[in-house]
Amino acid sequence: MVFEVLTIFPAIIEAYLSESIMRRAVERGALRVDVYNIRDFTTDRHRQVDDYPYGGGAGMVLKPEPVFNAIEHIERDGLERRRVLLTPGGRVFSQSIAEEYARQERRILLIAGRYEGIDERIRTVTDEELSIGDYVLTGGELPALVIIDAVTRLLPGVLGDSRSAEEESFTTGLLDHPHYTRPVEFRGMRVPEVLLGGNHRLIRRWRRREALRRTLRQRPDLLDKADLSEEDQELLEEIKEEEE
Ligand code: ADE
Repeated sequence: MVFEVLTIFPAIIEAYLSESIMRRAVERGALRVDVYNIRDFTTDRHRQVDDYPYGGGAGMVLKPEPVFNAIEHIERDGLERRRVLLTPGGRVFSQSIAEEYARQERRILLIAGRYEGIDERIRTVTDEELSIGDYVLTGGELPALVIIDAVTRLLPGVLGDSRSAEEESFTTGLLDHPHYTRPVEFRGMRVPEVLLGGNHRLIRRWRRREALRRTLRQRPDLLDKADLSEEDQELLEEIKEEEE
C-alpha cells in the first residue's frame, strides 16, 4: 500500500512512521509513505502557504496554488489514486472504512489541512473527505496518521499473527474480551481460574461472555449491529440478569 501525504509539517508524519509496527511495515515492503511538503510547491519569494480570508475574520486559510501544484506534480506518474482530504466535516472514519481501503486501494493521497481552514477550491480536486471524529484538531496530520495506522495493520504480513487483527473489537462487532498475563495474582487481583486451566472450549466461551458483558456495559449501541448467534443471545440474557 502506498500513501502519499501532503502537509506543511512532514516531520510529524515521519516521526510516527519511524517507530514500531509502522516502521516494520515499511521495512517489509507492505507500506510505503511518500511525504510532500506543501511549502515546496509555493512559487512566491516568501514560500507562503496561507493567507488572509476574503471577507475578513480570524485565522488564516491554506492557499490553493501550492496544493494544486503538489497534486499535479505527484500525479504526473499517471497512476490511479484515491484523493482524500482530512477535515472535521468529512465522513467519519471507521474500522469498516479501514477494511475497505486495505482491500480495495493501492494508493491513497492524504491532504492534511491546517489553520482555520482551507481554500474551498481545494475540495474540487478530492474524491472524498474524512474526519476521525467529532472534535477539532489543529491540523490533518494526526488524522492522516490514524488512517495510515488503521489501514496498515490490516495489510497481510504486518501483524505477526494474522488472527490478531481479525479477532478484536469492531471487526467482530463486539468489544474485546479481557486479557491477562503474569503474575497470577497482582495486588490481590487474581487471573480468572478458567484461563489457568487448559480447557479451550471453556476459555472460548468465557471470552465470548466477557466480550458481550463489556460491550453491554460500555457500548450497548454496538449490540444492535453485531452478528450474534443463538448462544450469544442466551449468554447476553444471563449477563443482563447478573448485572441487575
Ligand atoms: N482536522 C482537524 N480536525 C480534524 C478531524 N477531527 N478529522 C480530520 N481532520 C481534521
